[in-house]
Amino acid sequence: MTPLWAPDDLIEATGGSLTTPFHASGVSIDTRTLRPGDLFVALLGEGRDGHDFVAGALESGATGAMTHRTIPGVGPLLCVDDTLAALARLGAFARARFTGQVLAVTGSVGKTTTKEMLRTILSVLGPTHAAVASYNNHWGLPLTLARMAPDMAFCVAEIGMNHAGEIAPLARLARPHVAVITTVEKAHIGFLGSIEAIADEKAAILAGLEPDGVAVLPLDSPQFPRLHANAARIHGAKLRIVTFGTGAEADCRLLAADADANGSDVRADITGRNIRFRLNAPGRHMAMNAMATLGAIVALGLDPDVAASVLESFVPLTGRGARRTVILPEGSALLLDESYNGNGASMRAALEVLRLQPARRRIAVLGDMLELGEAGPNEHATLAAYAAAASDIVHVCGPLMRHLYDALPASVRGEHFPDAEALAPFLSAFVAPGDAILVKGSLGSRMKRVVDALDALTPSQAGAA
Ligand SMILES: Nc1ncnc2c1ncn2[C@@H]1O[C@H](COP(=O)(O)OP(=O)(O)OP(=O)(O)O)[C@@H](O)[C@H]1O
Ligand SMILES: [Mg+2]
Repeated sequence: MTPLWAPDDLIEATGGSLTTPFHASGVSIDTRTLRPGDLFVALLGEGRDGHDFVAGALESGATGAMTHRTIPGVGPLLCVDDTLAALARLGAFARARFTGQVLAVTGSVGKTTTKEMLRTILSVLGPTHAAVASYNNHWGLPLTLARMAPDMAFCVAEIGMNHAGEIAPLARLARPHVAVITTVEKAHIGFLGSIEAIADEKAAILAGLEPDGVAVLPLDSPQFPRLHANAARIHGAKLRIVTFGTGAEADCRLLAADADANGSDVRADITGRNIRFRLNAPGRHMAMNAMATLGAIVALGLDPDVAASVLESFVPLTGRGARRTVILPEGSALLLDESYNGNGASMRAALEVLRLQPARRRIAVLGDMLELGEAGPNEHATLAAYAAAASDIVHVCGPLMRHLYDALPASVRGEHFPDAEALAPFLSAFVAPGDAILVKGSLGSRMKRVVDALDALTPSQAGAA
């Protein structure tokens, strides 16, 4: 088999030099997930320097390491000026030699879910490469591309942002044939300032679209006209657009999503074809992600009937709606693990799923939604009505969640804790058989601690951590 990276390509792609020639079958930036045969890239991280891990990476089976500092007695090395910039060049080289179709997904929420729905479908149709987890930023996207073999049929990339100006350069690196914008919501509004600025930033993905590329856009979004105007500004009137939503004009139109606790029976009109399928991921937001996904499938010229039937095997991902049973001495409880991400839109979506659960008690366990700037207190307070409608009791933690807590009706108001560490042991004692528990908050609120504490109650997992 041709190795992913040959020595000459490493030099040509990065402009660097090799201490000794080596091949690589993969690319890694983290020794904890490194696989034998990988090129290890020594990046500067928050409070860490990947150069300190080079020796360990080589011992773990890396065939070589890309560094911008020589490390005496250690090799083989690919020596470059700057490892982050060189990783981007590696990604650009991999993209240039790629012969398949590239799809890129951005949006305020639903990126990883849509990316994984596309991976599920496309993997059945041809060799498919896709981003790991939420690898969507200035290192995640280049890494995804650098790992891509030239002859795969499809690549599904995720593109994200925290600040204005981040999406366009990533889109130009990915050069997608199909660019999907899932949603435009007030995530990261603290950095962007307004919903209009967020829409403009999402639309910047179109700056990287290939000449005959297709944009897949959310017709129901109040920001759709702005996305459309941006598309016209960047590409003129000839750009092909596939829309998804509930409106009559949508190319991929959700006609009905009959929701139950475990999923939805979906009926849709996909470019004039009536399609029905079961989606084993509950909530209307998941049905809408499926519409975005089918929009991308149609954009590629593939069969939406086949795609919809494959989608039946899709289940929500860890931290993004995954469901698990917590085994207790006298019964069990249902855990809805939403600990990966929290903003107004995703909180409302997840609370709606909690509302659908036929439980003895529906318990919402919520941590702070971060990066909302001045909008933070109000975004939390206005969520109180949704939380109250979906839950029998609401426990929260964090300073911003105090605003939600104070706005809750007394009938559902549980406890407020300073942080997830304080909430976790309380909840472990509080949970009882028959409960359904939603745990959600921004990643930085560390609600995974709460999830881990609940998981640890299940006997086989107790003490595993
Ligand atoms: N279309 C949607 N509308 C509203 N909420 C959604 C939608 N899709 C997913 N969600 C919610 O957002 C959460 C995160 O989903 P996902 O990981 O797919 O988003 P993401 O855009 O990749 O997020 P991140 O910016 O953290 O990478 C889910 O757990 C769910 O609560
Ligand atoms: Mg993501």
